[in-house]
Amino acid sequence: MSLTINDLGKAVLETHYAVRGPIVARAQELERAGKKIIYCNIGNPQALGQKPIAYVRQVLALAEWPELAALAPEAFPADVLEAARAIGANAAGGVGAYSESKGLRFVRQAVARFIAERDSGDGVEVTADPEHIFLTDGASKGVQSALRLLIASSDDGIMVPVPQYPLYSATITLYGGVQVGYYLDEAAGWSLSRKMLDKALLEARAKGTNVKAICVINPGNPTGAVLSRGNIEMVIRFAKEHGLSILADEVYQTNTYRPGERFVSFARILTELGEKEVSLFSFHSCSKGYLGECGQRGGYMEVRNVPGEVLAQITKLQSIALCANLPGQVLVYCLVNPPRPGQPSYERYRAEREGVIESLRRRADLLARGLNDIPGYSCQPITGAMYAFPTITLPEGRTDDEYCLALLESTGICVVPGSGFGQEPGKAHFRTTILPPIDELSEVVGKIKEFHLSWR
Ligand SMILES: Cc1ncc(COP(=O)(O)O)c(C=O)c1O
Repeated sequence: MSLTINDLGKAVLETHYAVRGPIVARAQELERAGKKIIYCNIGNPQALGQKPIAYVRQVLALAEWPELAALAPEAFPADVLEAARAIGANAAGGVGAYSESKGLRFVRQAVARFIAERDSGDGVEVTADPEHIFLTDGASKGVQSALRLLIASSDDGIMVPVPQYPLYSATITLYGGVQVGYYLDEAAGWSLSRKMLDKALLEARAKGTNVKAICVINPGNPTGAVLSRGNIEMVIRFAKEHGLSILADEVYQTNTYRPGERFVSFARILTELGEKEVSLFSFHSCSKGYLGECGQRGGYMEVRNVPGEVLAQITKLQSIALCANLPGQVLVYCLVNPPRPGQPSYERYRAEREGVIESLRRRADLLARGLNDIPGYSCQPITGAMYAFPTITLPEGRTDDEYCLALLESTGICVVPGSGFGQEPGKAHFRTTILPPIDELSEVVGKIKEFHLSWR
C-alpha cells in the first residue's frame, strides 16, 4: 500500500505555516477561475513590482557566466567587473561548485567588515569574526539551524513574540520543542516589556519547560515596529539573568522609515554592554530591504559568545546540506559590499536604493493612515519592515479567519488572519503587506473599508 497520512509523524502534522495557508490556496483557486487577486499575504517585494538593483544583477550575471564581460563590455561598469573578478578568484570552480560548508570565506570576510562598519561609531568599536559567520539559503535556514541546535528535548522552550512570524512557531513544533509566547504591547507601538517577559518565563518554568532562548524580530514582522535601543538592552539583561541565548532576526534592518533613524543591532548593544556571556545568533537576508531578492535565497547567521566546539556543531549541521547555494552567496556579497561613493555604479545604486525605501516609506504611511480611517480599525504606525497588523473590531462571535476569507471572496484582497501569528485572546487582527504599488494600495484601502462597513 502507498504512503498514507497516518504514516507521517505528529510533529509534521502539527506544523502550520499561516502565510501560505488555506486562504492563500483559496486565492490561487479564485485566480485560476479568473478573479483578480491582490496578494498582500507575503513579503515578496519583486512579485509586487519592486525592481531589482542593477548592480546586484550585473554582478550575478557575470558570476554565472564570466564570458559575458567580453561579449558585452559596455554593459558592465568597472566596479562590477572588479566584484565579479573577486568572486571568480575566490570561488574555486565558480557558482557551479560547492563551497565550504560555512560559505565562501571571502564572502564571510566581507560580511564581517559590513557588521563592523554598520555597528561601530560614537566611541564603540564592534568587530566580527568571519569564522563566526555562516552563509545560509535565506535567513530561514539560519533560524532553523539555531533552533535545531537549541531544542534538545521536548521540554526545551523558546520564547517567541506574540504576534510572531510563523517560521518560529512552525520550526519549534517541527523540532519538537515548546513555544513560549511573550506578548508585545500593541498600545505602546508593539514594544517589549520586562513584565511580559518575566510573566511568560515564570509561567513556562512552572509548567516544567526548560526555557533556552528568546527570539526577537526587529524591525517586526507582523508588527511593522522598530524596537528602541532601551528595549534591546532590556532583552539582553533579561537573557543574561536567566541564562538564555538570543535569536535576533534583523532581516528588515534596512526597512526603517523614520527620517534619519539608524538601525541598532543586538550585536552593537551587546558590544556596548561589554557582554560576553549571552550567546547571540543574528540573521540577515537578501530577501528584504532594497534588494528584495527573495527568490535568490541569500542570507547569513552571525554567532557571538559561543565556544568553538558549538561552532563546530553548527558547521556540521550546515555540512549536511553541503553548503548554501552559491548564487545566494554572491547575493550576500553584493548586499554587504555595495558600490562606494566615487565608484562608477554608485550613483545608480544610490538612486535605486533610495527610490525603493522612499516608496516603501510613502506606502507605509498611506496604509497606516488609510486603515486608521476605517471605523473599528486601529493600526499602530508602520515604522519598519513591510507590514501592517491592525486590530479589527468584528461582529460578536465572528473570527478573523472568517473575516479574511470573506474579504478575499468579496474583494480579491489576500491577507493573513491574526490567528496565524498569535494575538491576545479576544482580539482580532490581520496582516497585510505594504507592498502593492501605491495606486493599487489606495484601492486596497478603499475596498477594505467598503467591505468592512458592510460585513456582518
Ligand atoms: C521576520 C522574518 N525572518 C525571516 C524571514 C525569512 O526570509 P528569507 O528566508 O527569505 O531570508 C522572513 C521572511 O519573510 C521574515 O519576515
